[in-house]
Amino acid sequence: STDGRGYDHGAIDVHTHCYLPRYMEMLRNRTDVPYVCPGKSDADDERYVILPGEDAEDTTAIGRPIGEEYFDVGQKIRYMDRHGIDVSVLSLANPWLDFLPAEDAVAMAKLLNDDLQEISEGSNGRIYGFGVLPTQDPEASCKEIERLASEDCSKVKGVILGTSGAGNGLDDPALEQVYSALAENDMPVFLHPHYGVGNSHFDGTGHSLFLALGFPFETTVATSRLILSGAFDRHPKLRLLLAHSGGTLPFLAGRLDSCVEHDHEMCDKLERAPSSYLKEHFWYDSVIYHTPALKSVCDLVGSDKLMYGTDNPFFPPKEGARSDKEWPSTSKNYDAIDGMVGEDVRNDIVWGNASRLLGIEPIHQK
Ligand code: URA
Ligand code: ZN
Repeated sequence: STDGRGYDHGAIDVHTHCYLPRYMEMLRNRTDVPYVCPGKSDADDERYVILPGEDAEDTTAIGRPIGEEYFDVGQKIRYMDRHGIDVSVLSLANPWLDFLPAEDAVAMAKLLNDDLQEISEGSNGRIYGFGVLPTQDPEASCKEIERLASEDCSKVKGVILGTSGAGNGLDDPALEQVYSALAENDMPVFLHPHYGVGNSHFDGTGHSLFLALGFPFETTVATSRLILSGAFDRHPKLRLLLAHSGGTLPFLAGRLDSCVEHDHEMCDKLERAPSSYLKEHFWYDSVIYHTPALKSVCDLVGSDKLMYGTDNPFFPPKEGARSDKEWPSTSKNYDAIDGMVGEDVRNDIVWGNASRLLGIEPIHQK
């Protein structure tokens, strides 16, 4: 909880997921990854199979348990109340609509974004959303961005994007029109990993290294490729929020600059050093569980770019997601923020920066 932590408002959580009921229904009707299947008995949670190999013949537990905490907004609010979170900016979790045929993704994106708007309207200011795009179809994505920017979808404050884009990554020329639409409509992108990078090195470690390393490596590579494609020279108003504090970029930024500068193919391609785009165009969540990592973000880009996140409902306590226990994954992130020097800095990270970037009012006055 935030009791005694001394912030002047409760948190705004910019990294918190919900598989909306409509999305769950779709997963229950599928038999290929990703899908949801019944548990062993009625008393058991359903199982969610999200990653390739999770449903291999030799595995003892197919997928992971998936209960109300993944799709019920009441559970989200309960979790928020227990952990000092005033406002959550909900996003669909991975793998979004990546696996659908384009036509299905276009229809589903609209429905899910309308669901998000409706949930937010009924939430007394507790819930906002990052919408989802049918990235397989860049032209339809542009139309959806315009719709999301209209008054009809006023509670949708940006979009969540994976790294696959239309299937060929984020530096795909096919996405240029999407970046124009995002920039022109002032829609920030929440960039989130799903596929991992370096996966073949993680055998025998469950999901631990895939999530600890593969996820942030994926964000690192996708962001670097986007920068090196010159996207920010072409779209000076494009803004992204990076999951997991920017992967490894705050640590590798100097090396990225140096290697680009010393490469004969790259050195004249960009208007500026890669790290200068990291400072101007990017925000970073705090889902990194360690004060030195947060300091490294602030040293590179300033404390006005870092925003509180939880990754809820992933990483539940051992006692289970619906127990009354405090979530150690959540308190650990507060602890990391509390290690930052300066009350203003801590307040900016916990709610102020998100409030300014997304135009969200904090709720409870102390
Ligand atoms: N595992 C996932 O699959 N997604 C997340 O966002 C976090 C953990
Ligand atoms: Zn996440």
